[in-house]
Amino acid sequence: MAYLLEQKDFIFTILIVITLARGTKQNENLCSNHTYGISIISSPPSDSSILHLSLRMLNLEGHLSFDNISHAAKDFGNRYYYLPCAILYPKSVTDISTTIKYIYDLGTTSDLTVAARGHGHSLEGQAQANQGVVINMEHLSGENMDFYTGNVPYVDVSGGHLWINVLHETLKKGLTPKSWTDYLHLTIGGTLSNAGVSGQAFKYGPQINNVFQLEVVTGTGDVVTCSENHNADLFHGVLGGLGQFGIITKARIALEPSPIMVPKTLLHQEHENYKAIHCMK
Ligand SMILES: Cc1cc2nc3c(=O)[nH]c(=O)nc-3n(C[C@H](O)[C@H](O)[C@H](O)COP(=O)(O)OP(=O)(O)OC[C@H]3O[C@@H](n4cnc5c(N)ncnc54)[C@H](O)[C@@H]3O)c2cc1C
Ligand SMILES: *[C@@H]1O[C@H](CO)[C@@H](O)[C@H](O)[C@H]1NC(C)=O
Ligand SMILES: *[C@@H]1O[C@H](CO)[C@@H](O)[C@H](O)[C@H]1NC(C)=O
Repeated sequence: MAYLLEQKDFIFTILIVITLARGTKQNENLCSNHTYGISIISSPPSDSSILHLSLRMLNLEGHLSFDNISHAAKDFGNRYYYLPCAILYPKSVTDISTTIKYIYDLGTTSDLTVAARGHGHSLEGQAQANQGVVINMEHLSGENMDFYTGNVPYVDVSGGHLWINVLHETLKKGLTPKSWTDYLHLTIGGTLSNAGVSGQAFKYGPQINNVFQLEVVTGTGDVVTCSENHNADLFHGVLGGLGQFGIITKARIALEPSPIMVPKTLLHQEHENYKAIHCMK
């Protein structure tokens, strides 16, 4: 940690010295101006190259990509195209916290933005960050799912997991989430940032009504656990919050016993029985 701080102080000193020397506009987006980068060796380094350098020096278990970024400028809607300056591929929640803390510490003169990206199935650029840092949440989804199979069963799952994977894992325990989306190739964090609606919503409410607890990285980079009874403001802000109140790194999802699957032949027979019973009535 001490090493990190020293490194950060060092970077800030460089940033301040060069900023003063160049008389940079205070509100300039430090990450912009790719094309004006260090093309001429004798020219002073650009702000974006300084920021790239300082981001590169962050002590991460995962990595930041500055080159392979164009896919994060698109989403399912294909209507908006905002190129980020970097994509974070986190290996741990600490990676997300470190990066956000760093960006927060840049202060109000920096307009570098951050967006979490789940499966990119938004339609209007919600998971994009124009010249900012996009966090690839699916890269976190290697983390294990932890089950509680007691009276009120639940699963603790990474915010980057797809619902389809949660279904596969929970079925192995004879359980399923109570509330769904109809389409399952969406991430936990992505749908909990909206609402998560399906045919079961009439019975159980949307997915955001079926979460017991969240682990969130806040805008200051702190990792906070929240629920109905603990940091409730954050909990209710983040659920349905479109990623504006924090990044969901873990969610505790309510489960129920899964329905028993019926072989097709039996189904047919049941159907015949059903018809017979109801015709008799
Ligand atoms: C084909 C298709 C089918 C769909 N079916 C349904 C459906 O049946 N039911 C339904 O309710 N919706 C449905 N949707 C809508 C979908 O739920 C939302 O668009 C959802 O946001 C997409 O999830 P995602 O993982 O792709 O998130 P993204 O599009 O990547 O992100 C969505 C928003 O959430 C934020 N975000 C992403 N991850 C996190 C995180 N971990 N923490 C905090 N914020 C985060 C992003 O910054 C962004 O603002 C569908 C969309 C499509 C394209
Ligand atoms: C990029 O840099 C050029 C030259 O310094 C400047 O004129 C321009 O406004 C900058 N663009 C952005 C988006 O900041
Ligand atoms: C670029 O990123 C995409 C999405 O993360 C990945 O599938 C692809 O393999 C990457 N390509 C390279 C060359 O790293």
